[in-house]
Amino acid sequence: MENSKKSTFGDLVNRREKLLAPIFSQDWPNLPVVRAEGLYLYGLDGKRYMDFMAAFGAVNVGHNHPAVLAAAREQMEKQVHGAVGVTLHESVLRLAETLPEILPGALDMFFFGNSGAEAVEGCIKLARNVTGRPGIIAFTGGFHGRTYGAASLTASKASYRLGLEPFLSSVYHVPYADPYHSSHPDDPSQCTLEALHSLQTVLDRLVAPSQVAAMIVEPIQGEGGYVVPPKEFLQGLREICTRHGILLIFDEVQSGFGRTGEWFAAQVFDVVPDIMAIAKGIASGFPLGAVCAKAELMSRWTPTVHGTTFGGNPVSCAAALATIDTIRNEGLLDKAKKNGEYLLGRVKELKSKYKVIGDVRGVGLMIGMELIVPGTDREPNSTASKNVLNEALSRGMLMYPCGMRSQVIRLAPPLNVTRDQIDQGLAILDESLATV
Ligand SMILES: Cc1ncc(COP(=O)(O)O)c(C=O)c1O
Repeated sequence: MENSKKSTFGDLVNRREKLLAPIFSQDWPNLPVVRAEGLYLYGLDGKRYMDFMAAFGAVNVGHNHPAVLAAAREQMEKQVHGAVGVTLHESVLRLAETLPEILPGALDMFFFGNSGAEAVEGCIKLARNVTGRPGIIAFTGGFHGRTYGAASLTASKASYRLGLEPFLSSVYHVPYADPYHSSHPDDPSQCTLEALHSLQTVLDRLVAPSQVAAMIVEPIQGEGGYVVPPKEFLQGLREICTRHGILLIFDEVQSGFGRTGEWFAAQVFDVVPDIMAIAKGIASGFPLGAVCAKAELMSRWTPTVHGTTFGGNPVSCAAALATIDTIRNEGLLDKAKKNGEYLLGRVKELKSKYKVIGDVRGVGLMIGMELIVPGTDREPNSTASKNVLNEALSRGMLMYPCGMRSQVIRLAPPLNVTRDQIDQGLAILDESLATV
């Protein structure tokens, strides 16, 4: 009886509300899932759902990819855990040897943790420790995670910061170059100029560049609304950082591992950061994250000021190696590029059909569709977004919102989604938009 209760989730809503923090239980949609494979989540209700958010980009090769499972299983038989530094295992070294093949620049030394937020924490600790400077510049719309350091940098929604002050000190937020929300939506160079001008004002009036350890930026914003900045903005940041000895940190936790059709968004924009935070898609669902830097920088990080028990877990590292192999073997960068262009084009067609769509943007399979109140000046339409998401879910397609008022719907399926599956998703999206 007890077992059957567990296997059917029993009285799901009551159990969830009694047992899980509201952070979980009041999230949307709390879809009861019994199995996952490839693009699909198999629900307790017997229905099959297309996962068009790929667990926030954590399963870029799809759910339960056989190669990833096999590698993890093989490693589990040998050793599940070993605290790196106390013991040493082969998979963490092999992963550290492989990552430079796919990372931008010559980032070739790593600290491994368990999550995106942990990777971000490591990046800012590294930057402050090696520069001896306190200041950190972050950007409005940026999301970097939920631990205190990462939350101090996060400025994608005020509600993510509610009741948490005081935050880490010496963090300065400046505007991101967000074309659609700028005063010049059709003029990316003006949008770039204004954002860089605001940054310069902060460096002139608030914090001298000599006091700034790092700038941390998502090269494409995720939670903030799938915002693609003009290339010149990121190149401008690179130039300012180089000029002042400020370390440029790219948070590629969401945009990494093929999501954009390149291994990392840095390669889309041709900008090389000094430090990178990576996680999510790295190990196809096994917990892993990393701080990446050049050896000459990383080797100056004082050993005692950071550490981990689980970071660089052998099973997660084996899963990461299999994930990288899978992306290579299945040509997923190319597929993400081609299918991304197709999907972007088709969603843009929907924009001419539905006035509720204000903007469609994206790179590779990281596509955002922003919903607005028709007839207004880009007023966010979170009601429409909620309705479209619910309608799509009832038709078997899971998507998830982002943006300041959750008015942006992200289209981010696993990279091995097929053209047929994309067409099925588009048909559901079309029907769901028709209902609002
Ligand atoms: C860009 C970015 N950085 C950091 C994080 C935090 O990652 P995690 O939830 O693994 O701590 C996220 C999560 O959404 C993210 O999108």
